[in-house]
Amino acid sequence: MPAPAHTSLKVLITAGPTYEPIDAVRFLGNRSSGRLGHALAAEAAQRGHQVTLLLGPASQCTMVPTQITLHRFRTTADLQALLARLWADHDVLIMAAAVADYRPTTPVNGGKIRRSSRGLTLHLEPTPDLLAGLAKQSRPDQTLIGFALEEAAELPHAAQAKLAGKGVDAIVANPLATMDADDIRAVLHMRGGVTLDPGGALPKTRFAAWLLDRVAEIHAAKPATPSRG
Ligand code: CTP
Repeated sequence: MPAPAHTSLKVLITAGPTYEPIDAVRFLGNRSSGRLGHALAAEAAQRGHQVTLLLGPASQCTMVPTQITLHRFRTTADLQALLARLWADHDVLIMAAAVADYRPTTPVNGGKIRRSSRGLTLHLEPTPDLLAGLAKQSRPDQTLIGFALEEAAELPHAAQAKLAGKGVDAIVANPLATMDADDIRAVLHMRGGVTLDPGGALPKTRFAAWLLDRVAEIHAAKPATPSRG
């Protein structure tokens, strides 16, 4: 029997950027502030869900309500290891982290790359798609929500492609301007071609509440969670 929408869920939320080391003191990162993931975690905890927040090296959002279980990550590999350890024990994953697509492969033996007049070529390798990998290992009772960060004109098409390609239940499609901003203008693309729009740009805290309502509805249609031993 599907779970009712008001059930307390175990919700795993990722937030913030990844930092991929170039050498001992430099990294490749991005401008994600972690604010939306942080707002989602706070709102979910307030609703009585058991929340685990995996928070990247974002300088804001370090104050986390005490009822939230917090783990910090820095690299894509750190986040991958945390997700591998924790996902099986959760009902819902909201993958708001801005995970690197590439990371440097050039090892510098723990040191610092020196200045040179010759220029420098960094070699990058693709990171694994964490969300797609988790979706493949998930149970039918688990709900996965991904994000698509794209230029506005490409959003609808790209969100649909990510929904199918990553094998998730829904994709939050948001334009590049969302990153590091106070507001978010996003729509939710769900399986079966349904698209839900909260009605324009919202502060991230209000969008978090709207999204958690939709996630509860999606999850309520899933089979019951097998009892945890
Ligand atoms: N994601 C992930 N692992 C990665 C990259 C992204 O799990 N190595 C997740 C993000 O957390 C997000 C979703 O995949 O929920 C889409 O991220 P996005 O950056 O929009 O797309 P990518 O899959 O990285 O593809 P592209 O950058 O080419 O659009």
